[in-house]
Formats: sequence, C-alpha cells, structure tokens
Amino acid sequence: QVAAASGHTVVLVDQSDEILKKSTKGIEESLKRVTKKKFADKPEAGAEFIEKTLKNLTTSTDAVAVVHSTDLVIEAIVENQEVKNELFKRLDKFAPEHTIFASNTSSLQITQLANSTTRQDRFGGLHFFNPVPMMKLVEVIKTPMTSQKTFESLMDFSKAVGKSPVSCKDTPGFIVNRLLVPYMLEAVRLFERGDASKEDIDVAMKLGAGYPMGPFELLDYVGLDTCKYIIDGWHKLEPNNPLFAPSPLLNKLVEEKKLGKKTGEGFYKYK
Ligand code: 3HC
Repeated sequence: QVAAASGHTVVLVDQSDEILKKSTKGIEESLKRVTKKKFADKPEAGAEFIEKTLKNLTTSTDAVAVVHSTDLVIEAIVENQEVKNELFKRLDKFAPEHTIFASNTSSLQITQLANSTTRQDRFGGLHFFNPVPMMKLVEVIKTPMTSQKTFESLMDFSKAVGKSPVSCKDTPGFIVNRLLVPYMLEAVRLFERGDASKEDIDVAMKLGAGYPMGPFELLDYVGLDTCKYIIDGWHKLEPNNPLFAPSPLLNKLVEEKKLGKKTGEGFYKYK
C-alpha cells in the first residue's frame, strides 16, 4: 500500500486469489482512512489518489512469474526459516541480476536467509511496523555481506515510501522488537502472577507512560502467533535468557487459535 501510494509499481503476491481479494479490500479500506485525513477538504483529489494508488497495484499467485520484472522483492511470509529459505532460493533462480531481496522478518536472522541465495550482497532487511500506513519507522538491516550500494538503495527506498529509516546490525529483534517484545512478555508474566489485571496494566502504561496502546492491546494488535514466533526463536538462540522465556499463557492462547484482533479474540474479545 505505501509503495503503491508513493508511485511504485507493485505486485502483491500471495497463495490464493481469496487471500489476495481480502488483502486488496484491506488496502482499499486503509486508503480511505489515509485519504480522509490527507485530503480532508479535497474529496476529489482524495478519490484521484485512491484511484492512482490502486492502478499501481496488481496481484498474483505466482511469485516466479512476476519476479523477472522486479527491482525489489519484499518478503513477508510465515516466520519459518525453511519456508522462507525455499522461497528465496526459488526466486533467486528467476530474478534479474540487479534485483534486491529484502525480508520483513521480525524473528529470523537476515544472514541465514541471504545464505539461501547467490546474491548475499544484494540482500538486506526491511522491517516495517503495524499499522504500516501510520508508523513512520523502517529498520534497514545490513548483514556483513550486504553491499554498501544495496544498503543505500534500501535506505533510499524507505525514504521514497515516506518513511524514516534507521539502521541496525543483524541482531535478534533489531532495535524496536528487542525492546518491545520483552516488555510485552513481562506484562504477560505480571498478569500470569496475578499481580494486576490486564485491563489495569493497559491503563497504567497508557496513562503512566504515554503509550498509545497498552501491552495487551498491542499483543492482540500485532498477533499472538507473531509474538510467539519471535519469542520462541530467541529462546532457541539464548535458552538461559529470562527475558526470552516462553509464556504458558501466550502458548495456550495460540494453541486455542485466539491470535488477537485478526481472529476476533486474543487477550480481549473483538465482536
Ligand atoms: N490504515 C490507515 N490509517 C490507519 C490505520 C490503518 N491500518 N490504523 C489507524 N489509522 C489511522 C486512523 O484512520 C486515524 O486517523 P485520524 O487521526 O485521521 O482519525 C489514526 O490512525 C488514529 O487511529 P485511531 O483513532 O483509530 O486510534 P489511535 O489514535 O489509537 O491510533 C494507532 C491507532 C496508530 C494504531 C495507535 O494506537 C498506535 O500508534 N499504536 C501503537 C502501534 C505500535 O506500537 N506499533 C508497533 C507494533 S510492533 C511491530 O509492528 C513490529 C512487528 O515485527 C511485530
């Protein structure tokens, strides 16, 4: 959405037409929200902006078929090393020489993903934040193999889509998640110990620390499965770090498919 809105030609790829239809609808809804604010007094310019953006956006279920005419691939599929490696390995065979590969992963090492391709110098991390149309930050991750030219292209692209990029080494959680995820997990542990209710913890962090959402609201917003993937991945890397310890309550909710806002229930109910 943000790439198309800033004039880039985008092909959104997913596994089925049904998912793509849902995604396109989500983008249309989000564009309406953005437009309402950006073109408050000019509804005609707003309608034109939406039309132009949607013109820049097509969809496909065949990544291999579209990658041959792509300058930049931004991968945001399931947080599973093997599945991502397999996708990158396949795309590497069909993508033009100059094409840069980037991953939006929040839990896996960019270096390991880059190693599944033959273009380690044209590989980096581009980590966006929910909700992407609103959050101005992008973390640009440079591995020891990422060339300076690739890094600069990723920084330039981030600016061209209207974001403020920061850079970080290829370390667990980069900057934001390294601080945010242990904080959210500490909130779950506080609640699990019965020290305070989740509602009070949320109110406390909003009114006492000025956060726009409390940790439980944010967990539900980000998705409990995503948070579990992140913490499980880090726990594997550092099993003795108490900040990375898995949470029985988080695991139970994920097992019950209560994944947060997207499934209608997580720590809270959304119906
Ligand atoms: N698309 C477009 N616009 C959106 C939007 C979306 N998906 N979601 C919210 N907005 C807009 C609304 O239209 C509204 O615009 P307005 O000011 O013109 O009315 C504005 O954002 C504010 O929205 P709301 O009034 O509905 O609610 P809030 O004032 O609470 O703002 C929020 C919503 C921007 C999500 C705010 O609560 C917030 O900043 N929350 C924290 C988000 C955060 O921490 N994100 C990082 C998560 S970590 C992550 O993503 C990393 C990953 O790896 C896990």
